[in-house]
Amino acid sequence: MTRTMWDSSVGKKTVMAVSGLIMLLYLAVHMFGNLKIFFGAGDFNHYAHWLRTIGEPFMHYEWTLWVIRVVLVLAVVAHATSAYQLSRRDIKARPSKYVHARPRASYATRTMRWGGIILGLFIVWHILDLTTGTVHSGGFQPGHPYQNVVDTFSTWYGNVIYIVAMLALGLHIQHGFWSAAQTLGVGSRTRDRVLKIIANALAVILTAGFIAVPVGVMTGLVA
Ligand code: HEM
Repeated sequence: MTRTMWDSSVGKKTVMAVSGLIMLLYLAVHMFGNLKIFFGAGDFNHYAHWLRTIGEPFMHYEWTLWVIRVVLVLAVVAHATSAYQLSRRDIKARPSKYVHARPRASYATRTMRWGGIILGLFIVWHILDLTTGTVHSGGFQPGHPYQNVVDTFSTWYGNVIYIVAMLALGLHIQHGFWSAAQTLGVGSRTRDRVLKIIANALAVILTAGFIAVPVGVMTGLVA
């Protein structure tokens, strides 16, 4: 891409679409992996250990995981930076005086902005909770994610934080997937209906799949 392409609104929207799809792929895999919690501590902890040994012996311990982490960090930074720049542009492009007292961005734009901020804060909390254990409620045990997850969802605030974030995630995916398809030029009058169905299905499946874990702990199915 040339410099002008990066600077254009279409270029920034393309960066948002591609980085968003990378994160969506990660989330689908993460949600699916999380459901292994319903098969018990042995299965779930074994899965977490496997995440650190993918590609061995070619890759060293945790190397593949670190590649995934670097790609995710780049995707988050690219996504957030483009979002910030696009919304600055949007604000600057507004005429200085409005006839109406309080001009507001559209419902979708506001939902995406606030949803993005909530998800950004959630990701920081989630890593400090279940990866590093810094803000974890119980005695964090590295290598025993099953017990750590049960501890988190045994507190009321753990359930509230995660469930609110998962609902924000659903709304973000529903609109984001649709926008990405439009930016990447997949849409057409006939395909739009199908794209909307896919966006809704992805949002519902991911939200429900993630929320199943705290619900499993709250109902005693996972203990
Ligand atoms: C109820 C929902 C969720 C549960 C139960 C959950 C569970 C976990 C657990 C147990 C880990 C640590 C894995 C390990 O150390 O082996 C983890 C890591 C992580 N999760 Fe989630 N997760 C949830 C939702 C999400 C969502 C919605 C996102 C993104 C928006 C996300 C992003 C991440 C990231 C980036 C990591 C760090 C991976 C790493 O570098 O080690 N998670 N999650």
